[in-house]
Formats: sequence, structure tokens, C-alpha cells
Amino acid sequence: MRHVRGSIESTESQVLKSWWRIRRRGASGSTVVAQASSAGTVEAKINFSTVMAASLRTSSPDIQDNLISLGHWLIARTMDSRLRELLPFQMPQPDSLSSPVQVIVGGLAVVGFCYTSYLLFSFIRLLLSVFVLPGASVSLKPFLSIRQSPSLTRSEQLRKFGPKGSWALVTGASDGIGKEFALQLARAGYNILLVSRTESKLAALASEITSKYSSTQTKTLAMDFAQNRDSDYARLEDSIDGIDIAVLINNVGKSHNMPVPFAETPEDEMMDIITINCFGTLRVTQLVLPGMIQRRRGLVLTMGSFGGLLPSPLLATYSGSKAFLQQWSTALGAEVASKGITVELVPAYLVTSAMSKIRRPTMLVPNPRGFVSSVLKSLGRSGGAQSIAYTSVPYWSHAIMAWGLTTLVGTMGKLPLGINKSMHEGIRKRALKKLEREKGKKAA
Ligand SMILES: NC(=O)c1ccc[n+]([C@@H]2O[C@H](COP(=O)([O-])OP(=O)(O)OC[C@H]3O[C@@H](n4cnc5c(N)ncnc54)[C@H](OP(=O)(O)O)[C@@H]3O)[C@@H](O)[C@H]2O)c1
Repeated sequence: MRHVRGSIESTESQVLKSWWRIRRRGASGSTVVAQASSAGTVEAKINFSTVMAASLRTSSPDIQDNLISLGHWLIARTMDSRLRELLPFQMPQPDSLSSPVQVIVGGLAVVGFCYTSYLLFSFIRLLLSVFVLPGASVSLKPFLSIRQSPSLTRSEQLRKFGPKGSWALVTGASDGIGKEFALQLARAGYNILLVSRTESKLAALASEITSKYSSTQTKTLAMDFAQNRDSDYARLEDSIDGIDIAVLINNVGKSHNMPVPFAETPEDEMMDIITINCFGTLRVTQLVLPGMIQRRRGLVLTMGSFGGLLPSPLLATYSGSKAFLQQWSTALGAEVASKGITVELVPAYLVTSAMSKIRRPTMLVPNPRGFVSSVLKSLGRSGGAQSIAYTSVPYWSHAIMAWGLTTLVGTMGKLPLGINKSMHEGIRKRALKKLEREKGKKAA
């Protein structure tokens, strides 16, 4: 009905044009319309109602519909109450057609449609990112070509950051996730510089690597990040002097021994968490980054946590330290992207390790091998962290959780906070009971 404009009195010819258009679209009943259209005088108003009445008698439901909707439109448009009185059949009140309620309902329907489409698109993107696409460090061309095989080896996928023979530096390398990063990067052809506290564990891992990958070189450096000693960082600087560090894995981290209210957090635990997680990461990155900038390539990957995405009551200091890493890493990512360097923060949910105190893997808690493999295979893909730049949640169950939290629930609301709080209160209760039992056993 867009072609009908103005009030009924001044637009008879246009109204009649509409009739003609309706007539052309309609089938039977068109003669009734044609008769009306030929009336075309001031009397058209009356004829108009006659036409409406007449049209109702036609056998064509489509003509009837058209006439009725035109009638609706005209009444709504002209607000001509006389016209309404002339109509010989019941029509909805014109006021209700354009009532605020109807506008709101229409608006909500549009918003609902857009939001549902956005969620669907976002979920498909999540599935593609987690299950289908290779890491963004890999050219998609071979995957899109039917002639080339998409089976690039892990080492080929990681070559973007540095040639064969370049180095990967892994902090917190002797155990858990860090150890697995060291092993998988060695398999991908990187020489490995291993850093953590315990020299004996580092030496054992270095010999495991060289026995598995004979051409791989290793270096070890024992330092305690909690001490934040300049001399340790000077030794680290010496260790990387003259070598091409292509990959930095900022993995070292410390959490609370058990969930604890902030007011009761031991001061040394609080200081260690901030010193290791934040200062350690910043200082190591500052030593490594200038070389990467010079070579215009490299990967700076930092282990984050769901605790950084989601404020975690009773783990407040750890949660805050990981939130710090999230902000810092994303900001750094934007700073150095143009210099050819990939920065990625990986917020993990739980992974079996000494830190998590979980030994048996489950659907939600992978072992370090599966977890690290998912990280290395999807470098540069967001996984479940679509809304956070330079961040990836690649392990499938973690990705779905992170997607749900960031897209549907929200990470800072009272609902996730409440759930998180009662979960940590439960863990604290059990940990305290266990401590009591152990004390009792020792005393006995
Ligand atoms: N496991 C999880 O569920 C989980 C979840 C989210 C995020 N993360 C993050 O993932 C990272 C690794 O965690 P993980 O579970 O693999 O930990 P882990 O199994 O406890 O291993 C920690 C590693 O860091 C080293 N380390 C600890 N304190 C150190 C210090 N003060 N100075 C130097 N090295 C130190 C340890 O070796 P030494 O004892 O020999 O020094 C070990 O190699 C952490 O940043 C953690 O926050 C883990």
C-alpha cells in the first residue's frame, strides 16, 4: 500500500490507482473493483465503502484481503472517522493499529529476531573455531583448495613464529601445563629454554626432550619468580642473549592453597601470587619482546584463567592477578600486532595438575596433553572468547562454557558470582576438614 499517499479526500485518483493494482493482482472479483475505480468522483468515499462491501462478496480471498488491508491502511492513515462509519463491516479500531503496544511488540519482534540471528551466527562461529578451522597462524588456502591436503603438521602450523632451530621459552616448565607446552613445542621443532624453581625437575625434563627429539637443543634456568630478584632476571637475560626466541609461553602461576576469604589470606600467599603471576610475566616478556619486535615475528602466549574472566570469591587475589593478565595481554596484543607478533591469552577452566589438585580427567577437566594440544592447534582463533581480542579458549568444553558466560550470562553479574562463591565455600569446607583429619593423624 505504499503507493497510496495523503488523505482520502485529496487522493482519490491514487486510491483508484491502488484499486487497479489490486485488480491486476487479483483474480475473480476484479470486475467489482473495476466498477468502483471507474466511479472516480467526489462520491468515491461512498463508492469506496460500497466497494468494500461488494468486495466481501467476491469469491477471491486474496482480493478481500487486499481490500481489507487497504481499508485498514486508509483509516489509519487518514484517521477519518467518517470513513470508518461508512464501512459496512467490522474492522479493528484504527487506534489499535498504531497503538504504542503494537509498536513495542513489533519493535521487540525485530530486536528478538536480530538477537537470535546474532546468537546463531556466534554459536556457528564458535563451532567452526573449535572443531573445524585450523589456527589462524595457518594459511586457509590449502583448506579451501580441493587439490591440496589440509593435513599440515603441527610443526608446519607453528612455523609462522620462527624458523626451525629458533627457541621457545617456557616458564613454570617443569610440571603440568608448562611441561606439556615444552614437550609439544619440542616436537614441533623448537629448541627449548625451560625455566622454573627446581633444577632437578628441569634437568629431568631436558633429558626427556633430548632423548625423544635428538636434534632439539635445551637450556634450563632455575629461578624462583616469587623472589623477584634482579640477579635472576639478569641470568635469564644472559640465557636468551644471542638466541632467537620465537615463542614465549608465560605459564608460571600460583593460586591460593585453598579458597580463603580475602581478609584471612596470608600475606606471603598474597604477595607471591601477585609477584609470580604479574611481575614474573611482565619482566620475562620485557626481556623477550624487543628481540621479537626486531625480527618482526613471534608468539607471546600467557596462561590466564576463568578466574580472570569471572570474579572468583574466596580466590580474590588469584582472580585479580589473572584479570590483570587479561587486560595487560589484550592491550599488548593491540600494541604489537602491527609488528608481526601474535599475542594470546588463554583463560583455562580446570586442567588436571598439581595446582588444580585434580588427578582424573573428565569432560570439563582435560589433562595437560589434550589441553595444550588444543591451544597449539588453534593459535589465533578465539574459540569461546569471541568478544575478547587476542584471547583464545580453545578446549571444546571450556570454549562452550566461556561462550555461554560471555555471550549469554555475563561474567560480572551477581548470578555467576553467587554460584562461584558457593562452589568455593564448599571446596574450602572440604579442604579444612581434610586439614583437620591430617592434623589428627599426625597428632596420633
Ligand atoms: N591447572 C588448572 O586447572 C589451571 C586452570 C587455569 C589456569 N591455570 C594456569 O596455568 C598455569 C600452569 O598451571 P599448572 O596447573 O600447570 O601448575 P602446576 O602443575 O602447579 O605447575 C606449576 C609450574 O610452575 C613452576 N613454579 C611454581 N612456582 C614457581 C615459582 N615461584 N618460580 C618458578 N617456577 C615456579 C613449577 O615448578 P617448580 O615447582 O619446580 O618450580 C611448575 O613447573 C598457571 O599460570 C595457572 O594459573 C591452571
